[in-house]
Amino acid sequence: MSTLYDLDATTKDRTKVFESGEIPVAVYGLGKMGLPLAAVYAENCSNVIGVDIDPEVVNAVEAGDCPISGEPGLSALVEETVREGSLSATTNIKAAATESEIHVAIVPTLLDDDQNPDLSILKSLLKKVGAQIDAGDVVFIESTVPPGACRDEILPLLEEASRLNRGEFGLAFCPERTSSGRAIKDITGAYPKVVGGIDEASARVAQAVYESINDAGVIRVENATTAEMVKITEGLYRDVNIALVNELASVADDLPVNFREVTSAASTIPFINVHEPGVGVGGHCIPYYPYFVMNWLEGDFPLLRLARERNDRMPEFTIDCLQDQLASVGESLEGSRVLVLGVAYKPGVAETRATPAGPIINQLVKAGSEVFVSDPVLDDEKMGDFGGEVLPTSDILRMDLDAVVIVTAHEEFTEIDWTAFDPMVIINGRQSMSVDNDKHRIYTIGSGLESEGNL
Ligand SMILES: NC(=O)c1ccc[n+]([C@@H]2O[C@H](COP(=O)([O-])OP(=O)(O)OC[C@H]3O[C@@H](n4cnc5c(N)ncnc54)[C@H](O)[C@@H]3O)[C@@H](O)[C@H]2O)c1
Repeated sequence: MSTLYDLDATTKDRTKVFESGEIPVAVYGLGKMGLPLAAVYAENCSNVIGVDIDPEVVNAVEAGDCPISGEPGLSALVEETVREGSLSATTNIKAAATESEIHVAIVPTLLDDDQNPDLSILKSLLKKVGAQIDAGDVVFIESTVPPGACRDEILPLLEEASRLNRGEFGLAFCPERTSSGRAIKDITGAYPKVVGGIDEASARVAQAVYESINDAGVIRVENATTAEMVKITEGLYRDVNIALVNELASVADDLPVNFREVTSAASTIPFINVHEPGVGVGGHCIPYYPYFVMNWLEGDFPLLRLARERNDRMPEFTIDCLQDQLASVGESLEGSRVLVLGVAYKPGVAETRATPAGPIINQLVKAGSEVFVSDPVLDDEKMGDFGGEVLPTSDILRMDLDAVVIVTAHEEFTEIDWTAFDPMVIINGRQSMSVDNDKHRIYTIGSGLESEGNL
C-alpha cells in the first residue's frame, strides 16, 4: 500500500487518508507544547502514540490524565482521545518509531552555556527514530531550530541513521507557532500553520496533514529553511521591537510623554505595531531565538545583539528607577520592604522561564532590601526558587511596605485596592496595568512619574 509520501493524489484526498486512521503517527515529546499537539493529532487522525522519556508523563497520559496545567481544553481532550483509543503513550522510542509512518518531533531545543544552539536532544532522538524509519515515512520537526538545520544537519543525520536516501523518506519543518496558555487554540487555528519541506513530496504531506489540524489553513513555503526562518523571524521581530520601546522608555523622565498614548496613537497606521516597554522579556522563545541566528549563522548581527542587551538590561533599569524614587522620598533600597508582584513571565501563565522577576529579586536581595514575592498563578515552591518571602496575594493588603514592583500584569492584580496601603513607592513595570491613584508615588516604565503621592 502507498504511503502518504508516495501517494499520487490531491491534497484533499491525502487529508482524507490521514483522517481515516490508517496512518499511524508518533509524537515525540509530550511537554507543554507536545502533549497539546499529540492530543489534537489524535482528535484528527485517531491513531497517535505519544512518546516521552519521562515515565511519569507517559503513565499520566496512559491513565487519561493531563500532566500539563494551564492549557484550556487540554485535560478534556487528553481524557477523551485516550478513552476512545486515539491516543496512547510510551517511553519506547524504538517501538513507536517502528510502528509509525509520520514522526513528529517536539522535544526541547536549547542554548548551551555559551548561548550556542544546542540540538543534542533533538539529534539523539532523531538518530533513534531514523534507525527505524522505512521508505515512505515522513518526519516533521516542530521543535524550533536555527535556519538551515533541517537541510544541513537533520537530513544527513536521518539518511545515515535510516540508510535511506533523500527522496525515499520525507522531512518537513512545521514550526510550533503557539504560546503557553493557548496551545489548543493556536494549534487548531488561531493563525495558519507554516510548513516547508525538504522536497516537494514532504511539503505535500505536511500540507495535507495540517489542513486537517488547523482551521486557519496552511502556508506552504518554498523549503524547510524558509519555514525555519519564519519561526525565528517572529521571535526576532518581537525582541527588536520591544528593545526599541524599552530604549525610548528611558526618555520618560525628561519628556512629558506617556507611552500608553504613544502606543495607541502611533499604532493607528496599519503597518505600525508599537510594542510595550517593560521590566524585561521572558519566556521560552523571544530571549532565546536571537542566538539561533547570532550564534549559528555566519555574519555579524549587531542589531540583534543590541536588542538583546537592551532587553536584558531592563531589570537593572527597573531597580535604578526604584532606587531613584525611594531616594526622592529619603529612603534607600537597603532595609526597604519591597514586594515583587508577579513572578511568572507572562500574565495568566504559570511559567517562569527567563522571567525578569529573577534578576529583579536578586538585585533587591543583594542591595539589602527585605523582599516579598506574590503571584496568584504560581505555587509557593516555584515562587520560592527565586528568593524572597512568598506571600499569598490575598495577604498582601495586610503588609506594611515601602515599595511594590509590578512585574506581571496578572488579571488578579487589577482587583487590588491600592488605597488600602499606606503611601509607598510603586514601580509599575507594565503599561497594560493601570494603578490609578494619587496616594502613592507611582513610576510607570515608559510613562515616568505618574503620581508624586503623599509620602
Ligand atoms: N513552550 C512554548 O511556548 C513553545 C512555543 C513554541 C515552540 N516551542 C518549541 O517546542 C519545543 C518543545 O517545547 P516544550 O515547551 O513543549 O518543552 P517541554 O520542556 O515542556 O517538554 C519537552 C518534553 O520532551 C520530553 N523529552 C526530552 N527528551 C526526549 C526524547 N529524547 N524523547 C522523547 N521525549 C523527550 C521531556 O521529557 C518533556 O516532556 C521546543 O523546541 C520549543 O522551542 C515551545
